[in-house]
Amino acid sequence: MSTRSNAARLDAVDDAAQAFEVRPLPGGIGAEIVGIDLGQTLNASDFARVHRAHLDHHVVVFRDQRITPQQHIDFSRRFGKLMIHVLHQFHLPGHPEILIVSNIVEDGKPVGLGDAGKYWHSDISYKPLPSLGSLLHAQELPSEGGDTLFADMHVAYDTLPAHLRDAIEGRQAVHSYLAKYGQMQKEANWRPTLSPEQLAQVKEVVHPVVRTHPETGRKALFVSEGFTTRIEGLPEDESQQILAELFAHSIKPEHIYRHQWREHDLVFWDNRSLIHLAAGTPAHLRRKLYRTTIEGDTPF
Ligand code: SIN
Repeated sequence: MSTRSNAARLDAVDDAAQAFEVRPLPGGIGAEIVGIDLGQTLNASDFARVHRAHLDHHVVVFRDQRITPQQHIDFSRRFGKLMIHVLHQFHLPGHPEILIVSNIVEDGKPVGLGDAGKYWHSDISYKPLPSLGSLLHAQELPSEGGDTLFADMHVAYDTLPAHLRDAIEGRQAVHSYLAKYGQMQKEANWRPTLSPEQLAQVKEVVHPVVRTHPETGRKALFVSEGFTTRIEGLPEDESQQILAELFAHSIKPEHIYRHQWREHDLVFWDNRSLIHLAAGTPAHLRRKLYRTTIEGDTPF
């Protein structure tokens, strides 16, 4: 075959659209995307549809994705640079862009981070450039439990009582990877002691309490029990009181989508719009997922 006809064939492959559907989930948060194969490179218009669905619904659930770690990474990279998690102990060997989230212990050693997501959080909000979004791909699921909950922080902001809205107007809050780290080390045995090099990667940062989504312009609360330690410029007791009220308001049942995992699901959420929580898995049941995390921009 000539070079010219090879090029034509590649164009044709690139142009091939996939016949997939975006189905909003009941409850107003999230959409299911069915009939797509993320193992194939999406053409520009399919990619634009997925991107739009992600912005509109904040969390999209791709069903039945039988993809390799490299395909998971390649799809994630189309949205931006991938972040390498500070806990290198739980990187997938050969693929440092993937964090293993798992409660499985083999030969006395945890294969992944067993208590990832135990407290509500937005991924990597403790960095100057927090995450745009995360993609979690089911590898092994328990027969019960193991759900992931997502809370809509735009709705949380829109429905804030006036006294909280006034209290946080123009304020900044401190985010720290270490906020719950010591407590989690005491509660269970998953978390290694951080080396000086790891500690140097997770110095605390300050972000606005209310951020504006850089792509949609919508405002969202940007604090979480997992990583936010105090509001700057307030006395400590007042800061703790307001944070406690903000945390409680954020996770009201009407703000939440509860994801019940199915085999080969890949779930892609927007960390600028949502916080999330791993609801927990009975200790005798195995759960393993692979996560990539996309870097976002400076919150404003
Ligand atoms: C995470 O917080 O990234 C993990 C969520 C989960 O395991 O459900």
